[in-house]
Formats: sequence, C-alpha cells, structure tokens
Amino acid sequence: MAKSIATKNKLDNAMLIDAMPTKELFIEMLTRDIALIPAITDLVDNSADRAKRVKGDGSLINYWARVSVSPDEFSISDNCGGMTIETARKYAFRFGRPLGAPFVKHSVGQFGVGMKRAIFKIGRKFRVESTTTESRFVVEVDVDVWARAPKWEFEFTELDENAKHESTETGTKVTVTRLHPDVADKFAQDSFVTELRNELQSRLQDPISRGLATTLNTLPVDAEPMMILSHPKLAPAHKTLKYAKTNLKLVSVKLYCGIGRSSNRSEERTNAGWHVFCNGRLILEGDKTDVTGWNSDADSLSIPGFHPQYNNLRGFAYFDSDDPARLPWNTTKTGLNTDSPIYRAVKLEMMKLMRPVVDFLNKLKDEKQNKDDPDEMGPLEKLVDGATPIALEKAPTRPVFTPPVTKAESKPCEVQMQRIQYDMPYDKVIEVKKALRARSYKEVGAGTFDYFYHAEVK
Ligand SMILES: Nc1ncnc2c1ncn2[C@@H]1O[C@H](COP(=O)(O)OP(=O)(O)OP(=O)(O)O)[C@@H](O)[C@H]1O
Ligand SMILES: [Mg+2]
Repeated sequence: MAKSIATKNKLDNAMLIDAMPTKELFIEMLTRDIALIPAITDLVDNSADRAKRVKGDGSLINYWARVSVSPDEFSISDNCGGMTIETARKYAFRFGRPLGAPFVKHSVGQFGVGMKRAIFKIGRKFRVESTTTESRFVVEVDVDVWARAPKWEFEFTELDENAKHESTETGTKVTVTRLHPDVADKFAQDSFVTELRNELQSRLQDPISRGLATTLNTLPVDAEPMMILSHPKLAPAHKTLKYAKTNLKLVSVKLYCGIGRSSNRSEERTNAGWHVFCNGRLILEGDKTDVTGWNSDADSLSIPGFHPQYNNLRGFAYFDSDDPARLPWNTTKTGLNTDSPIYRAVKLEMMKLMRPVVDFLNKLKDEKQNKDDPDEMGPLEKLVDGATPIALEKAPTRPVFTPPVTKAESKPCEVQMQRIQYDMPYDKVIEVKKALRARSYKEVGAGTFDYFYHAEVK
C-alpha cells in the first residue's frame, strides 16, 4: 500500500512543471511601476488605516506617523495600535491580500502589496517592529540573503505573544537600510525632501486634517484644504451620486465643480483641473486629461482639451465606500481604472458639471482679449479677482454652476454699497489673512464678512 502511494507521488511529481517566480524577478516587477514618493505614501496610508480601525471615520487626534529619510536610512514609525502576531503571520507579509484577511472599513489599503513594495523600492535590508497591547514582534530581513533562499517565508527575529503593553506604547516601526544608490542620492537632496513633503501634504490631506500628526524629518506636514471661490455668483456646482448593488457595499460619490484662484502663480497649473479622491486619499491631482473628461465627447456633450485659459477650473470628485475593492483606483493609488462602470458613469456627470464652468472661462478669456484698456479689469475678471477663496467644505453650493451675467462697467451699480472700517490686533489679522489665503487686507475684510454672512445670516 505504502509503495503504491510512493509510486503515485513520484508519477504526480513527474507530471509537474515548476512555475515558481524567482524572487529577484518578482521584486523587480513589484517595484518597477511605482515611483519612490507614492511608495512612501503607501506606508503612511497603512498608519492612517490602523488608526482608522480604532477610530472609524472620527477624529485621529493623538495619533502620529513620523517619516524620516536620510542617505543611510529610511524609517516610518507610528503609535496607531500596531499589528497583531496573527496579522503578521498570515497576512501582512504576504504579497497580495489573501482571502479572509481582516479589512478596515473605508480603508485605503486594499491590494496587500503596499508595505512590501515600498520596502523593496527603498533598499535591501529591513526591520519591522510592531507592538500591540498584547504582543510584540520584530522581523529583520536581509533581502539579498532572502532572495537567494528558495522558500517564500520571512522569520520572526523576536516574538512575544503574551506581552502586556499600555495602549500608548503600541505602534509600528518600519526601518529600511542598505538603500539603493539612487534612493540614497534622492534622500540627500533638499529638493526631493520638499517634493515628498508636498506630496504627503496633498495626498494625505484627509487623515492629517482629521488629526494624524504627520512629520517628515521631524517637521510637521500640515494639511492643505481644497479651496474654491466663495462669491455667490461663482458658487460651485455640487452633486451627490450613489451606486448600490445587491450584496455589495454602497459607493457614494460627491462632485464639485467651480472656480478657484491660486495664491501663487507657480501653483496655478497644478491646482487646475480635477482632483479625484478615493476613501479620502488623493489619487489624481489637478487632472487635465481625457481621464476626467477633458478633450472628450459623450451624450451630445463636448469638453475641449485643457488650455491655460481654464487655469481657474476646479473639480473635485470624492469616491467613498466601506469596501475599498469597489473603488476605481489602481494598485499604486496614482491613477484610475477608467474601465470601471461606476467611474464611466461618474465621468459623464463630471463633464456635465464642468461644461458651464468651461463656458464661463471662455467668456472670461474673450473679455480679457477684447478690452480696450489692457490695465483695466473687465467685470468678470473683477468678479474672479475680488472673490475670496475658502475651504471647499465650507463653500455654499448649488446644483449647477450658472455663469454670472454682469452689467456693463459703464452702467451704475444697482446694489448700494457701504464701506466698513475697523482696527484689529496686527498678529491676529495676519493669522486670519493666512487662513483665508487673502492677498490684501481688503480681502481679509471681505472674506471675514462673507464668512459671517453665509454662516449666520443666509
Ligand atoms: N503601520 C501599520 N500598523 C498596523 N498594521 C499595519 C501597518 N502597516 C501594515 N500593516 C498591516 O499589514 C498589512 C499589509 O500592508 P500592505 O500595505 O502591504 O497592504 P494593504 O495595506 O493591505 O493593501 P495596499 O497594497 O492597498 O496598501 C495591512 O493590511 C495591515 O494589516
Ligand atoms: Mg497598504
């Protein structure tokens, strides 16, 4: 009997063909399509996801994530709760999310590759240390040694399954050393560190603004709210869409499209176009391509290609779902899956919302081109120049953006105006000016008045 089983196994083995990928090829494939900054951003997403697991969609105050880069070492540490031994053993170090892996509602993590891909992208030696209230472990890996070994496993270097830790001591630290030479070069450049800071600021605006204290090389990374012009004649269009399907989690989408103005000329182009978020994570920043409806035709609707005359267009699309697999993002969280039926339906709605804004900006361009005195602003230009940018979430909205009809300059103004003058402490005024992103004290006055008017009067 024993003999016949052995013979059968031998025969079965003879029929098998080895298709196991080599580790080096695998590492190369995994890291090739992601740039360094999105890879690092993935690691901060993991900290934020862990904090969200405790706090849901509430405040993330008291949680922190600290990123540190230098030519010798990369590290990220957080106090967001840590990884259990079971998570580490069964899921966290797997390449790809296995079935049954626990998932966090409304998370950014979905694919099960971010942490490993970031580590391999940065260097050839890593250490992951994680502490929960009940356990602590360390995994230390020399990637060169691991890549030569046939087995697809890592080993715990330290393991304590019966520890007791205060919740304030819990968290995870990922350290990478023996950096790839090109990565070490980048980490030595101030310009790279500034770029990383700016990206973390915009991509992680949601968790940071909810309280996740994020630092890069010990300096805080502040959240930057999305801004839009608040003037009643320029109020942005807003639409909410819901996509439900039996047995699947709901996807809700909030769209906004209106007019913005950058505080700084160098940001004009970056800020223009569509900003697309999935579960709070910025996926596309100021997109100006056919992915978001530019240069596209659909349903008797036509949108021109992007041109600098549309620098003032601001579009925002927020996709949210408890199940991240329902969202139309790619694994690097830097692009959209344009084949997704939900995204295709939403794109049409985005085009409908942007059409009147495009019309308005065409009119604004005509006005600028046709004015007699090049130093004089026309009525539309004055409207845009005089409106105050405010945070999108505070802006009054309407279902459709309606291009304003302005009276010719020569006609007397029908609205009776009243000048208001008052003095306030200089330091406070400067703080308010910064918060409003106002360019003059006149804008500070108008902005604070508008704010009060919309909050308390209208
Ligand atoms: N800082 C952290 N704190 C707690 N758990 C973490 C942390 N980083 C990673 N993990 C655990 O490791 C798992 C794997 O992380 P990884 O980034 O590789 O994939 P993911 O977040 O599940 O999906 P994605 O590839 O979309 O990022 C996470 O799902 C989480 O359980
Ligand atoms: Mg992740």
